[in-house]
Amino acid sequence: MQGPIGVFDSGIGGTSIWKEITKLLPFENTVYLADSKNAPYGEKSEEDILQLSIKNVDLLLKKECKLIVVACNTATTNAVNFLRKNYSVPFIGIEPAIKPAALRTKTKKVGVLATKGTLSSTLFHNTAKIHASGIQIVEQEGKGLVELIEKGKVNSEETALLLGKYITPMLEQDIDCLVLGCTHYPYLVPVLKKILPQNVQIIDSGFAVAKQTKAVLERTRMLNTVQKEPKHFFYINMDPEVLKSFVDQRNTFISILDF
Ligand code: DGL
Repeated sequence: MQGPIGVFDSGIGGTSIWKEITKLLPFENTVYLADSKNAPYGEKSEEDILQLSIKNVDLLLKKECKLIVVACNTATTNAVNFLRKNYSVPFIGIEPAIKPAALRTKTKKVGVLATKGTLSSTLFHNTAKIHASGIQIVEQEGKGLVELIEKGKVNSEETALLLGKYITPMLEQDIDCLVLGCTHYPYLVPVLKKILPQNVQIIDSGFAVAKQTKAVLERTRMLNTVQKEPKHFFYINMDPEVLKSFVDQRNTFISILDF
């Protein structure tokens, strides 16, 4: 089937997921919406996150997407159940990878760095209850990190200081796994590696999302089998400069769109 895969996030963070998807599925066309104008979603109410998600999905469906990846933990944990119930297209969501972390931790203490919207969601708490019983989850809101990444300040002193402030109390509680519960955060891995001791593993869900996307496309017989170089269309409702530096690849077309 020729329709593109749709991907959306509150901004440019979901490109960390988009990269995993295009690596694993090299013949799929994609359409990516970066709703940077409304970032951060993590500070909004559940209802606002739902309405923004609906707006993004409606636009992706106008672009004839055959499957939609909600490349945002905050939107997934607050809206994916509604989306699955109310649209016929398949949805792939992303949630903090608590399950693999619970299987790997030796100290039985797992840190989760995520937005307020994700940490306060019912879905997050249910997942933790089901997959991490007997494990202490040390939650930390990453307030301000999304904004810094959206501004392209990944390698700034400001970002390193803020991350240090968030990570230190988690280390004091003896975590040995750090779950990145926001799709913006994989871009912080080089900074995180400088802060974290060697025994702390960083866990994110990007590859798992790409694998799940492939599995669903196969199961629904929508995988693109034509081995033609794909096209990737990006739409952003703010200045595209930082996005350009994040997805500087062949066949990517970036436009500004008011959505
Ligand atoms: N990338 C989004 C996520 O995974 C960031 C949320 C936000 O905009 O606060 O949660």
